[in-house]
Amino acid sequence: MLKSERLVLRDFESHDGAAMLAVESDQETVRYQSFEPRTAGDCDTYIARDLRGRGDDRTCFDLAVTLAENGRFVGRVGLDIKLPEASLGELWFILDRSLWGQGLMPEAVRLLVTFGFQEKGLHRVFLECDPRNRGAIRLAEKLGFVREGQLRAHAFIKGESCDSLFFGVLATEW
Ligand SMILES: CC(C)(COP(=O)(O)OP(=O)(O)OC[C@H]1O[C@@H](n2cnc3c(N)ncnc32)[C@H](O)[C@@H]1OP(=O)(O)O)[C@@H](O)C(=O)NCCC(=O)NCCS
Repeated sequence: MLKSERLVLRDFESHDGAAMLAVESDQETVRYQSFEPRTAGDCDTYIARDLRGRGDDRTCFDLAVTLAENGRFVGRVGLDIKLPEASLGELWFILDRSLWGQGLMPEAVRLLVTFGFQEKGLHRVFLECDPRNRGAIRLAEKLGFVREGQLRAHAFIKGESCDSLFFGVLATEW
């Protein structure tokens, strides 16, 4: 569990499906994600797979973002340690659209990236996003991630081939 002033990041619980559905069934929220708006079945399957995948040798930290004041599930933030020997982590995040623009996800990302560098000994954390995804780009810039490059036609999103923009931050810069 990771805590900040407004947020608690915790592991998924088996009853989180309905709250996850409320966030990830929204078309605009998943506009630049590689998946379609999620169904109830998708959310239940996703959470069940996460619960099964946890062990002592865990390398993927996909966490529920909840509000400290009332425990409400408002999104997800994740860090996948891709290459343990290279100490490299990939980051993702998604927040309930009604809460965009309040700096909540930067607060969540700051917690998880700090955990990755301090507790997991990562050297680098990166994220990949669509170059049209202004919210994700602004979040990365605000937290000091460096815009490292754009790969052409590297992703396939909502029926079209799209470029991928990469941002990264090193432990020495965090
Ligand atoms: C990206 C995301 C997590 C940002 O979270 P957040 O808590 O709103 O972050 P911030 O409050 O710092 O806002 C970041 C930027 O989002 C944009 N934004 C804020 N409110 C917005 C709104 N109501 N509608 C559209 N964009 C908005 C702004 O560009 C803002 O930058 P600014 O502060 O310089 O104006 C959130 O927009 C989201 O969940 N998007 C959908 C999922 C997604 O695209 N994830 C990333 C995949 S790589």
